Amino acid sequence: MSNTALEVGALAKVFGGLAAVDGVSLKVAAGERRVLIGPNGAGKTTLFHCITGTLKPTSGQVTLFGRDVTRLAEYSRTALGMGRTFQITNVFPDLTLGENLALAIVGTDRRKWVLHRPMQAYADVRRQALESLERVGLAGRADQPAKLVSYGERRQLELALALNTRPKVLFLDEPCAGLSPAERQRISQMIGELPRDITLLMIEHDMDVALGLADRVTVLHQGRVILEGSPDEVRANAQVRDVYFGHA
Ligand SMILES: Nc1ncnc2c1ncn2[C@@H]1O[C@H](COP(=O)(O)OP(=O)(O)O)[C@@H](O)[C@H]1O
Ligand SMILES: [Mg+2]
Repeated sequence: MSNTALEVGALAKVFGGLAAVDGVSLKVAAGERRVLIGPNGAGKTTLFHCITGTLKPTSGQVTLFGRDVTRLAEYSRTALGMGRTFQITNVFPDLTLGENLALAIVGTDRRKWVLHRPMQAYADVRRQALESLERVGLAGRADQPAKLVSYGERRQLELALALNTRPKVLFLDEPCAGLSPAERQRISQMIGELPRDITLLMIEHDMDVALGLADRVTVLHQGRVILEGSPDEVRANAQVRDVYFGHA
C-alpha cells in the first residue's frame, strides 16, 4: 500500500527546440495540498497538461496511485480520478447554474440512467447539483442563467463542475486569476476547505494564497524544479526570492 497519490518521474516536454518542462520529478502524498509556483513561462501549465494527458510528454513517467498512466488518454486519467477545471466553453449559457450542474452529474454518473424510478433519480440529481453549488458558495444562484453570472461566479461554477467528477487528485491552474480581491478570498478559502480525500495540485501566482494553502510548495524555473519544501522553507529561500520576485 502506498500513500503516494501522484508520482512524476523525469518528465520533459520539448516544443521545437525549447524544453518547456526539463526533467521534473515530483511525489505528492495522498491528501496533500501541493502548490506549484514560478515565474511566467516556467513550464507550470505545460507540466499540468503532461500530467493530466492534455499533452503528450517528450519523455518521463506519470504514476497515479501506483499505476503508470503515462500512455493513457486524458479521459482514461479522468476515469481513474484525475480532475481539472473545465473551460468556460463547457458551460451552457442559457441554462441555469443548477441545470448546468445537473447535466454534468447525469453525464458523469451512468447509473442515473438505469434507475427505474426516474422522478426519484431527478430529485437526486437536483439535490446533488444544489449541494455542489453550495460547496462553491453559489447556493443562492442555482436558478440564474449561466450567461448572467459574473466572471468570478463562472470560475466558481467551473470548480463545482470539476468537483462533480469526484476527483481523487484535483488540478487547478491559477483558479483565482482575473478575480476581484473579494472573490479571490472566497475561492481560496473554499479550496482550503476541500475535503482531505482530495489531493490537490494547484498553480498559484499570488504568493500569499500559495503559501497559505500549501502543505508543500514546488518552485519551477525554466522547466526545472529549483526547490521543493514547506511554505516556510520557500519563504526563507534566497534563490526563490531572486527568481520569483525578480530581486537582483
Ligand atoms: N503549445 C506550445 N507550443 C510552443 N511553446 C509552448 C507551448 N505551450 C507553452 N509553450 C512555451 O513553453 C514555456 C512554458 O510555458 P507554460 O507552461 O505556459 O508556462 P507557465 O504556465 O509557467 O507560465 C513558455 O516558454 C511557452 O512559451
Ligand atoms: Mg500557466
